[in-house]
Amino acid sequence: MSFNKVKGTYDVLPNESKNWVKLENYVRNLYNLFNYQEIRTPIIEYSNVFHRASEGSDMVIKETYNFKDRSNRDLTLRPEGTAGSIRSYVENKLYVNNGLTKLFYIGPNFRYERPQKGRFRQFMQFGVEALGSNDPRLDSEVIELAYQTINQLGLKQVSVKINSLGDEESKLNFRKNLVDYLMPFESKLSKDSKERLVNNPLRILDSKDEGDIEITKNAPLPLDYLSESSKKHFEQLINHLDNLNIPYEVDKKLVRGLDYYSETVFEIHATTDGFGAQNALGGGGRYQNLVKEFGGPETPGIGFAFGMERLLSALEIEGVYNKVENSLDAYIITFNEDAKNLALKIQSNLRLNGFTVDINYTNKSFKAQLKEALNYGAKNLLILGEDEIKNNTIEVKDTLTEKQVTVSMINLINHLKEHKSNE
Ligand code: HAM
Repeated sequence: MSFNKVKGTYDVLPNESKNWVKLENYVRNLYNLFNYQEIRTPIIEYSNVFHRASEGSDMVIKETYNFKDRSNRDLTLRPEGTAGSIRSYVENKLYVNNGLTKLFYIGPNFRYERPQKGRFRQFMQFGVEALGSNDPRLDSEVIELAYQTINQLGLKQVSVKINSLGDEESKLNFRKNLVDYLMPFESKLSKDSKERLVNNPLRILDSKDEGDIEITKNAPLPLDYLSESSKKHFEQLINHLDNLNIPYEVDKKLVRGLDYYSETVFEIHATTDGFGAQNALGGGGRYQNLVKEFGGPETPGIGFAFGMERLLSALEIEGVYNKVENSLDAYIITFNEDAKNLALKIQSNLRLNGFTVDINYTNKSFKAQLKEALNYGAKNLLILGEDEIKNNTIEVKDTLTEKQVTVSMINLINHLKEHKSNE
């Protein structure tokens, strides 16, 4: 019997995790600049947090991991970060202190999708939710943050697509007209789109099926059904984006995969050749009813999320993030028991002074220890032989220049400090 990872999951191995941490730190810094604060909600929620009457998206209906706990409670692994954040916002009454609440999060999500390049069953997202304002300037801030997330990272081959679905009334009106338009083509639609015609017709607009694309060529579009106030909101947003010099294109067919959106929607796509079909790096939009649905006061919201796996592969393809090499300030090489005992003490002392250090815990030969030191990327070899112990000294060899000097033990920290500042 063998033990394998669950289908659609992956391990982040030690030589890969540094880039994950780097990206997470980057996100925390940038999102703090925009005054978003981190929220950490549970990975498991009661199923009704996601399975709400208003949400008929495939993602929630068909792709969630649902199970009963030992007390027969219905639980669901979160498929996205928005619903849990809003549940927490309402449950903790975050709306009482503030006109505007700006949250960000980083964490794993679960969707039972067909795994492929860029699509996993457990995947990491980071995202934001800004709650409490209808101002299109807030839409522009959120889109600016999504854009700066990739721009400041150094990704070049990306495009920002925006659209508006309009308010509830515009959406209903559009939906009715879309269904009326599609009905005569029902038998020619792809299997997925046929199903969507009943419960999620908007998604047919972004079907990848060639037959569906042909059918929807002249289909009604959300922008044609905007109410006066939705039209004004979208026009103002566009002015603000122009003012902020955010590059974007209006994609009239952009609809998004979740049902809670109204008004502004947007996505950021990787345009690199060979990125694969799953090229949406991130997406989001406005949702006007979620807070109310969770029992809070009527409060509009807007947010987005990025998929970290896709971002990391875009960063690798564009050569922005390379594989991070191991690195140690020093590795102590020893030959006998006394030296090993002393090395333990030196190592501890160096670490407490801010140096990354390691020693050898097996009885390896000099050659094997050297190999291990180089594998770790050690900048200095600290060699501790019988003579050194007797003389209270240590040999310090720079692995780059291959220069070796004898340093008295009390001077070791100063020597390494000087060495470090000269690097
Ligand atoms: P979403 O478009 O479903 O939106 O997901 C956002 C991003 O998560 C996608 O663009 C993609 O990069 C990544 N992603 C989604 N599913 C997978 C998967 N199976 N494997 C790998 N990556 C994936 C949301 O989740 C909304 N909650 C965003 C939002 C926040 N809207 C408003 N606020």
